[in-house]
Amino acid sequence: MIIGPIAQIDLDALRHNLAVCRAAAPESRIWAVIKADAYGHGMGHCAAALAEADGFAVARVQEALGLRGIGVSKPLLVMEGVANDTELGAVLSMQVEMTLHSSRQLELILSHLEANPQPRPQRIWIKLDTGMGRLGLHEAEAIALIERIRALTSGPCSGAGAGSRGPTLELAGIMTHLANADDPSHSMTAAQCQQARALAERFDLPLSIGNSAGILAHPAARSDWVRPGIMLYGGSPLLDSSAAALDLRPVMTLSSQLIAVREMAAGAVIGYGSTYRCPEPMRVGVVAIGYGDGYPRHAPSGTPVLIHGQRAALLGRVSMDMISVDLCQIPDARVGDPVILWGQGLPVEVIAEQVGTINYELLCRLSPRVRLDYEASGQMSEAVRLGRSEQGP
Ligand SMILES: Cc1ncc(COP(=O)(O)O)c(C=O)c1O
Repeated sequence: MIIGPIAQIDLDALRHNLAVCRAAAPESRIWAVIKADAYGHGMGHCAAALAEADGFAVARVQEALGLRGIGVSKPLLVMEGVANDTELGAVLSMQVEMTLHSSRQLELILSHLEANPQPRPQRIWIKLDTGMGRLGLHEAEAIALIERIRALTSGPCSGAGAGSRGPTLELAGIMTHLANADDPSHSMTAAQCQQARALAERFDLPLSIGNSAGILAHPAARSDWVRPGIMLYGGSPLLDSSAAALDLRPVMTLSSQLIAVREMAAGAVIGYGSTYRCPEPMRVGVVAIGYGDGYPRHAPSGTPVLIHGQRAALLGRVSMDMISVDLCQIPDARVGDPVILWGQGLPVEVIAEQVGTINYELLCRLSPRVRLDYEASGQMSEAVRLGRSEQGP
């Protein structure tokens, strides 16, 4: 066995979590959010495993290009929309849906379509800012843009930006993003849902609201289309609920191996900065994982790892390639034994809390040095990744 960290990706768990989403929002269609390399799980394999999703949502045009490039033919949504003519050209050629969050984007689209009439209408989602305060149109701007697009697309020639050459723009729906859905008691979520729903009803358009937290905790967010991300990967989207309590299964289990077991004297210090001093003679294990793999450098002494199903504490600072752990309670631990950093038996949320971050960040930031192994119904396959993205199944 070659030593080093492995992220084992359980595609059955991914499909189970999608089914949990389906059960929570049975009337909704699902954009499975697979941006950021499927939250670090590998976009190609996850897209293939999520055949039951109705479409895939990504943040950027580049990600949509990657998916089309590996043969993914499902509907795709670029949630940030396009920034320039090059991106728009790519979106039009790939038949990808996109959001429209500024009048600048509409001008860009109309002038591009004027010069490059398209055989098929380009579907666009009006992104309404209902309180997230990030991307999106204020309500009055959204109304003005929708009316303008309607006027352009409803004439006898019904050509938005293409004169008499046929329809080239289609309003796909209204989309908004929730700012505080992770807190089920937050009053803002209901107001956001209400505002988006009112706009969708006014123009008789489909609506897309729910992220994972919205889907699980806020019935009003279970709109025509929902956009689950973290819950698909088995992460809890809610502040006060564990993933297990929500029936979500961890998809990624990050593990490595013990590469040394040492007896340290009382008073010996461990790692850079000598921040941990052994209070008594201690059996200490060295594990082949570090911040060069994406394990958080700020994990403090005491952060748990799992060895032989038992929790053991991190000791001293995280190095680039290694961490040290306390083996005093696991006397039979040996060099070569597996060490779980998070996943099965050790929720990623536990580590995130220790480090002062969120499950999303830990999952997303594994480095290309970590091998991804895929498991589905007992079958294993290894992804060959180029940079941050693997090449698909
Ligand atoms: C616009 C948008 N929709 C949906 C999602 C999915 O959110 P979550 O992973 O919390 O389900 C995200 C993620 O950041 C997003 O930016």
